[in-house]
Amino acid sequence: MLAVATLAALAALSGVNAYNNGLALTPQMGWNTWNHFGCGISEDTILGAAKAIIANNLTQFGYEYVLMDDCWHAPARDNTTGAPVADPEKFPNGIKDLADKIHALGLKFGIYSDAGTYTCGGRFGSLGYEEIDAQTYAEWGVDYLKYDNCFNEGLAGTPLISHERYANMSRALNATGRPILYSMCNWGEDGPWNFAVTIANSWRISGDIMDNFDRADDRCPCTDMLDCKLPGFHCSVAKIIDFAAPVGQKAGPGRWNDLDMLEVGNGGMSFDEYVTHFSMWSLLKSPLILGNDITNMTNETLTIITNKAIIDINQDAIGSPANRMWKRSVNEGGDLSLWAGSLANNSFVFALLNTSPAEQTVYLDFVDVFFDQGKAYQTQAYDVSDLWQKDVAGNWGKSIGTIQGGFNVTIGSHQTKVWRATPVQSANAKRAYGEL
Ligand SMILES: *[C@@H]1O[C@H](CO)[C@@H](O)[C@H](O)[C@H]1NC(C)=O
Ligand SMILES: *[C@@H]1O[C@H](CO)[C@@H](O)[C@H](O)[C@H]1NC(C)=O
Ligand SMILES: *[C@@H]1O[C@H](CO)[C@@H](O)[C@H](O)[C@H]1NC(C)=O
Ligand SMILES: *[C@@H]1O[C@H](CO)[C@@H](O)[C@H](O)[C@H]1NC(C)=O
Ligand SMILES: *[C@@H]1O[C@H](CO)[C@@H](O)[C@H](O)[C@H]1NC(C)=O
Ligand SMILES: *[C@@H]1O[C@H](CO)[C@@H](O)[C@H](O)[C@H]1NC(C)=O
Ligand SMILES: *[C@@H]1O[C@H](CO)[C@@H](O)[C@H](O)[C@H]1NC(C)=O
Ligand SMILES: *[C@@H]1O[C@H](CO)[C@@H](O)[C@H](O)[C@H]1NC(C)=O
Repeated sequence: MLAVATLAALAALSGVNAYNNGLALTPQMGWNTWNHFGCGISEDTILGAAKAIIANNLTQFGYEYVLMDDCWHAPARDNTTGAPVADPEKFPNGIKDLADKIHALGLKFGIYSDAGTYTCGGRFGSLGYEEIDAQTYAEWGVDYLKYDNCFNEGLAGTPLISHERYANMSRALNATGRPILYSMCNWGEDGPWNFAVTIANSWRISGDIMDNFDRADDRCPCTDMLDCKLPGFHCSVAKIIDFAAPVGQKAGPGRWNDLDMLEVGNGGMSFDEYVTHFSMWSLLKSPLILGNDITNMTNETLTIITNKAIIDINQDAIGSPANRMWKRSVNEGGDLSLWAGSLANNSFVFALLNTSPAEQTVYLDFVDVFFDQGKAYQTQAYDVSDLWQKDVAGNWGKSIGTIQGGFNVTIGSHQTKVWRATPVQSANAKRAYGEL
């Protein structure tokens, strides 16, 4: 009991260093229009997706936000009040009506704007209109704002300038009195993991994702994000994972690194590649925002996005992203990497990722897996389960036995394997936890 109480206190304490709206204590989950529909959205597209979330029981896994991305706008703002106006053809009943219908389904509703003069799709932006826009969103019943970075008038280049521009909307949202999750999308410019932790609930760390596992593309030119001058777009899954590796240390309850919206189910990757994508986004505590057509999913897609054991890693109460413990080049090209992280209740997660084109066999040494925890943890025995296998009852997470020291793993090309480990407790420890 003491351990659990201490944990809750710790989680609450880390929330103190986050944006003050009390939201996203675990990474937000939902669905967004952009990756599948782009600008081709309407009330029907969005309500159809909301109904599909319910029909597929996705709420029981935690998916709750229905997010309308770019291109919902009328050609211009209201020319007397300056308030934002929605496209009357795409949204004949207006945005408030749409939000009401989504709320009536038990879901939450999100909108999109841009900290510049125009959005990326060329619609009116919110720079200089922060207060009236936030106020209008609150009146419409908006629960979430994704806030982009196109046409920013050069108001970037130092953390201070970027901070000021994004803090203006953060304050405007707060002033509405309505809790609105604030999802910054400035593509990692000026290091939002340093300057945005107290003004936003999450921040994108890179240029836009593409539905591809590891294709090199000069439109995503940076090799790491720590000093990137052109985040770009067309960033592959493997590249975004590399970008995310060093910045996990800055995330926690209420303040997350956003690796961008999911591509699972959009058709550009194999089953194993989508498993890698979903697993690594979960371990790194990225928001899990679906980006496929959820009204028309294959069983494989549904299988991946409803792996409860993997989602539990993402939604774990202490909110600590996994760290890369090592990365090794392999002869065939690509690399193998080991990731490990702490979970609530003295439990651990670790994963092996193979970006090479060939199967690999490697000894997973607990000296590496539990490097951060020290010798006692490296040498004790663990109950280990494989989170991409089902147990006899049909639940994700199949026991692979009691393991001490380490074990050999064979892993296919572009696969990720994920395990959960809990120390095998001595009788004394069990007594201390009140279990004997
Ligand atoms: C606004 O900020 C205040 C002070 O930090 C905080 O107590 C309050 O909960 C915030 N309100 C909203 C709606 O985010
Ligand atoms: C959703 O849950 C209901 C009730 O548990 C069940 O009958 C139905 O088959 C589920 N649908 C899907 C798509 O899993
Ligand atoms: C203002 O907007 C209204 C409605 O769209 C339009 O009829 C009117 O001509 C506009 N006025 C000006 C001055 O642009
Ligand atoms: C932030 O808002 C203040 C006050 O409204 C304004 O003076 C300032 O120019 C804004 N800063 C940026 C970068 O938009
Ligand atoms: C549903 O998805 C399949 C591919 O999985 C595609 O061929 C079909 O056109 C889609 N149907 C609709 C209505 O989008
Ligand atoms: C998906 O799974 C369901 C039930 O397991 C099955 O009835 C259906 O035929 C499957 N659909 C496809 C496209 O494989
Ligand atoms: C920790 O374990 C206790 C007892 O099994 C359980 O009630 C609690 O929900 C767990 N906490 C977390 C955050 O998993
Ligand atoms: C792992 O594989 C190596 C090489 O085949 C073997 O020597 C070693 O005994 C294996 N270790 C375990 C724990 O199975």
